[in-house]
Amino acid sequence: MEIRKLRSNETPPMDLLLLADPSRKMIEEYLTSGHCYVAIMEKVMMGVYVTTETNPETVEIANIAVMYGKQGRGIGKKLVKHAINNARTRGFTKIEIGTGNSSIGQLALYQKCGFRIVGILKDFFTKNYPEKIIENGIVCRDMIRLEMDLRAVK
Ligand code: ACO
Repeated sequence: MEIRKLRSNETPPMDLLLLADPSRKMIEEYLTSGHCYVAIMEKVMMGVYVTTETNPETVEIANIAVMYGKQGRGIGKKLVKHAINNARTRGFTKIEIGTGNSSIGQLALYQKCGFRIVGILKDFFTKNYPEKIIENGIVCRDMIRLEMDLRAVK
């Protein structure tokens, strides 16, 4: 599997991006300013992540997704690790990510990759998304913010 930057002549995989974020409008916004990377296997885009610069020192993983049928096989972890190494190589000192209070598997993945929980944006999803989101039987209301100090990564 190859993970590489999306080429200028390639279309971002919107079907995958929508798995992580139901708002096409928000996706289009961060695609404009962000960097999109794709995981390719046998010429098929299996995964994607998008990073944006929050400030000159910090990069955020705004979206990360793996196609249905390929989830749970380690691709997501490879993408998160790629994003961490890529941010460090580009000279950023911090990487952030946010996910829903109901996203149990995602919270496990990010913490396994070294992210620490640093805050909660209360009612972020109820205020910003018109449709009610339910995962694992839990209403998604709040955004859990996580970050990693890249100066501590070897
Ligand atoms: N408890 C403990 N660990 C868990 C749980 C759980 N409930 N669920 C998952 N994990 C762990 C797995 O055990 C694994 O860790 P391990 O390698 O140590 O065993 C890890 O989390 C998951 O690893 P992968 O197989 O690499 O994950 P996957 O390829 O499925 O990618 C992703 C994860 C991107 C979240 C994928 O499932 C997906 O696309 N989901 C839908 C879209 C989505 O929710 N994206 C994230 C939204 S937040 C955002 O975009 C910023």
